[in-house]
Amino acid sequence: MIESLEKIKNEALQSIDEVTDENSLNNVKSKYMGKKSVFSEIMSKMGSLSNEERKEVGSKSNEVRASITEALDNKLKSIKDEELNKKLEGDKIDITLPSKKIRKGTRHPLTIVREEIEDLFISMGYDVVSGPEVETDNYCFEMLNLPKGHPARDAQDSFYITDEMLLRTHTSPVQIRSMLANEEKKPFKLICPGKTYRRDDDDATHSHQFSQVEGLVVGENISLSDLKGTLELFAKKMFGEDRKIRFRSSFFPFTEPSYEVDVSCFKCNEKGCNICKGTGWIEILGCGMVHPNVLENCGFDHTKYQGFAFGVGIERVASLKYGVTNMRDYFTNDYRFLRNFDRKEI
Ligand code: PHE
Repeated sequence: MIESLEKIKNEALQSIDEVTDENSLNNVKSKYMGKKSVFSEIMSKMGSLSNEERKEVGSKSNEVRASITEALDNKLKSIKDEELNKKLEGDKIDITLPSKKIRKGTRHPLTIVREEIEDLFISMGYDVVSGPEVETDNYCFEMLNLPKGHPARDAQDSFYITDEMLLRTHTSPVQIRSMLANEEKKPFKLICPGKTYRRDDDDATHSHQFSQVEGLVVGENISLSDLKGTLELFAKKMFGEDRKIRFRSSFFPFTEPSYEVDVSCFKCNEKGCNICKGTGWIEILGCGMVHPNVLENCGFDHTKYQGFAFGVGIERVASLKYGVTNMRDYFTNDYRFLRNFDRKEI
C-alpha cells in the first residue's frame, strides 16, 4: 500500500508538472484527490489493515496528500502568474504612439465679440451691468419716452407675456434701471451687453433672438463730440485702425438728436464692394444724446446733466468681423462652424 501511495504521488506530481492550464490542472486534481480518485480508493481499504499498518499507511497518505496539494497550489499560482504576465504583455502601453486628439471647446463668436467690446469699455472706465430679459412695458418703452400707441413701437415688434410684461426688445431698459438705481444721481458710464428679442421671421439676416450692447454716459458737459470720439475708438478697435465713422440723422424716441452710425468699409476702403453693397459704408449702430424726458423720468436734472447713449448689435459686428453670412449659424451650435473662431496665433 505504501508503494501504491508512493506511486500515486509520483504520477500525480508528474502530471501536475506537465499541465499548462487551469482546466487540465483541475482534471488532475479530481483524478488524484477527488471522491472517486485512486487515492480515496486506497484510503477506503484502510479499514482492513492492522493497527500498526494503519498508522504507517495513515502517515504516508498524509504526506502524499500534502505534497500533491502543495504541488497543485504551486502550479495553480504559476499558471495564474503566467496568464497575468501574458495579459500585461498584451496591454503594454506604447508611450511612443501619438495620442488621441482631445477636442477642446472654443468660445462662441458672439462671446468673443462681446468680451472684446467689454474690454474696450472697461479700459475707458465703464461699468458692465446687466438687466432682466423679461421686462416691464414701463421700463422697455414708457420710461424711454415711448408711450403706448407711439408709432416707434411698431419697429420693435414684441413678445408680450402679459399686458405689462414682455421679452425686452432692446437693452435700453437697462438705462432706466441704472439711472433709477443711482440714488445720488451722480455721473456714470456703463455698458450693458445682453440678449434681446423681437418678433422677426428668422432668415439669413434676421433672428427673433439677438444681442446688443447698450452704452450710456451721463454727466456734466457731455456733448455730441464725446459720443463721436467714443464711437470712433470703438470702430477702430473692432474693425481696424484705418476706419472712419459717419453720423446719419435718425430717430429714436429716447435720444435727441439721434443718429445712425456707419463705419467705412473695411474690405474696400470706401470704394464700394459686396459687403457694403456698393456704398463704401456699413451701418453698425444707433445712438444719440439722451432725451431730456428720459433723464427727468429717472430723476436726473436735465439742466445740469447731459448724456449720450448707443446700442450696437453684437451679431452684426461679429458677422462683419468674421464674414458670417447666415445669422442662424450663431444659434445652431454646429461645431464645424464654431471651431473656426478663437484661434490662437502662434
Ligand atoms: N435701443 C435702440 C434699438 O435697439 C438702439 C439705441 C440705443 C439707439 C441707444 C440710441 C441709443 O434700436
